[in-house]
Amino acid sequence: MQIHTPRLTLRAFLPADLDTFVAYRSDPEVARWQGWEAPYPPESARTLFTRASADLPPTPGEWRQVAVARRSDDLLLGDCAFRRSDDGQQAELGVTLASAHHGQGYASEALAALIDWLFDEVGLHRVFANCDPRNPGVIDLLRRVGMREEGRFVASLWWKESWVDELWFALLRHEPRPWRLTGDTTTARSPRGATAGRSP
Ligand SMILES: CC(C)(COP(=O)(O)OP(=O)(O)OC[C@H]1O[C@@H](n2cnc3c(N)ncnc32)[C@H](O)[C@@H]1OP(=O)(O)O)[C@@H](O)C(=O)NCCC(=O)NCCS
Repeated sequence: MQIHTPRLTLRAFLPADLDTFVAYRSDPEVARWQGWEAPYPPESARTLFTRASADLPPTPGEWRQVAVARRSDDLLLGDCAFRRSDDGQQAELGVTLASAHHGQGYASEALAALIDWLFDEVGLHRVFANCDPRNPGVIDLLRRVGMREEGRFVASLWWKESWVDELWFALLRHEPRPWRLTGDTTTARSPRGATAGRSP
């Protein structure tokens, strides 16, 4: 699977992505909001790249990462992640960008394309995400791509040595998607696919 948006390609990870991937996962400001600790071990990245190169869509319950690369030079900017629910009809979403690439709309463009693919190609019924209410970047992002805030669970998650709240967002297939990509957005599927809360 490859998805092209005006500025990005969502694709499988390549060996050349490894150092960049390890570097942004090792950034304490990125790791703070995600399920790993900084520094991020290269060995974990190799394991994740191998798992991410398996066929799509993944087995329910399994997180899959999709590399987000700049279309002009194929530089890895970050990744999206999704995990299908046990019923196979829903998916939890996650996204991470290297700090150097924040504030340019790349995360919105990538996440919107992943959502379109999950609804229009995979045929899911619902996508959802949860985040820490203290993480304004992701809250803005989820709203920008049209996800509805569904509620706040209070002190519901034991997270990095303390109880934290969770904000939950969701979108149904038939609901409006304000961030519709137009023009040269294309999806190509191949037998060996690529792929992409708080992802592992
Ligand atoms: C969550 C995360 C991916 C959001 O990144 P982001 O850069 O804020 O989001 P986008 O890439 O969509 O960029 C949006 C910003 O770019 C601006 N922008 C600039 N050019 C743009 C363009 N061409 N198109 C759209 N937006 C553009 C927008 O106005 C917006 O700015 P604002 O935040 O000042 O309103 C990032 O903060 C991150 O990786 N954090 C660490 C990991 C994390 O917390 N993940 C979520 C865990 S649940």
